[in-house]
Amino acid sequence: MTSVLSDIDRQTIDTTDDTQFYESPRFVTHADEAFTTRLTALYDSEMKPGDRVFDAMSSWVSFLPESPLASVVGHGLNEDELEANDRLDTYFLQDFNSDQTLPLEENAFDVVCCALSVQYLQYPSDVFSEFGRILAPDGVAIVSFTNRMFPTKAIRAWRTRSMDERAALVDAYYKAGGFGETAFITAKPGSDPFYAVIGRAPPA
Ligand SMILES: C[S@@+](CC[C@H](N)C(=O)[O-])C[C@H]1O[C@@H](n2cnc3c(N)ncnc32)[C@H](O)[C@@H]1O
Repeated sequence: MTSVLSDIDRQTIDTTDDTQFYESPRFVTHADEAFTTRLTALYDSEMKPGDRVFDAMSSWVSFLPESPLASVVGHGLNEDELEANDRLDTYFLQDFNSDQTLPLEENAFDVVCCALSVQYLQYPSDVFSEFGRILAPDGVAIVSFTNRMFPTKAIRAWRTRSMDERAALVDAYYKAGGFGETAFITAKPGSDPFYAVIGRAPPA
C-alpha cells in the first residue's frame, strides 16, 4: 500500500499513549452547533433508511439524522462517552495508532462516518483501507473536520497544513486506501469552517 505520510509527518507533540489521553470522558462538542447541524444534514443526504453505519472515532454524540438506520456500530477510545451515546447499538474500543485492523466483517456497512478526528491518525492509509474493506460496494465514507484540534495529539502533517491542504491530504488517504471517486464539501455555516471529504467504495 502507498504510504502517504513519512515518519516525520506522523509525529505528535505528545508521544504518550492515546489511550491515556482519552482516559477521562469529555462530554463536550468539538465544533459549534452550526457545524454539527451541517454535518447531520450531510449525513441525511448520504444515508438511506435501513443503512448500516460505522461511526469511527466516536464519542457521546454521533450527529446522525433521525432516519431509521438498520444498525450503528461505534468505535472510540473512551468507554464512558460511547456508553452515553444513545445512537450506538454496539461499540468497541481500539487505538488505531497501535492497531489498524478493524474487528468487523467485510462488506458489512453502507456508511462509515469519521467526524472531527482524522487529524489524530498516524497510519491513515491502513485505516482508510479498512474503511474500504468493511464498506459494501458503492458504500460511502464521510470524513469531516474543522480547524479545531487537540494540537499535542494531531499529527505534524495536519498541524502544518492549511484547511484546503488538509482536504487534499484526506483525499490522498482515500486514494491510498483504494477508494474510487471522492467529493469535497466546504462551507462556513457558523464560526467553525465546515469541511467534509466523501469517498465512495468501488462498485461490485
Ligand atoms: C475530537 S474527538 C471527536 C469525537 C467524535 N467523532 C465527535 O465528533 O464528537 C476525537 C476522537 O478521536 C478518537 N481517537 C483519537 N485518537 C485515536 C486513536 N489513536 N485511535 C482511535 N481513536 C482515536 C477518540 O475516540 C476521540 O473521541
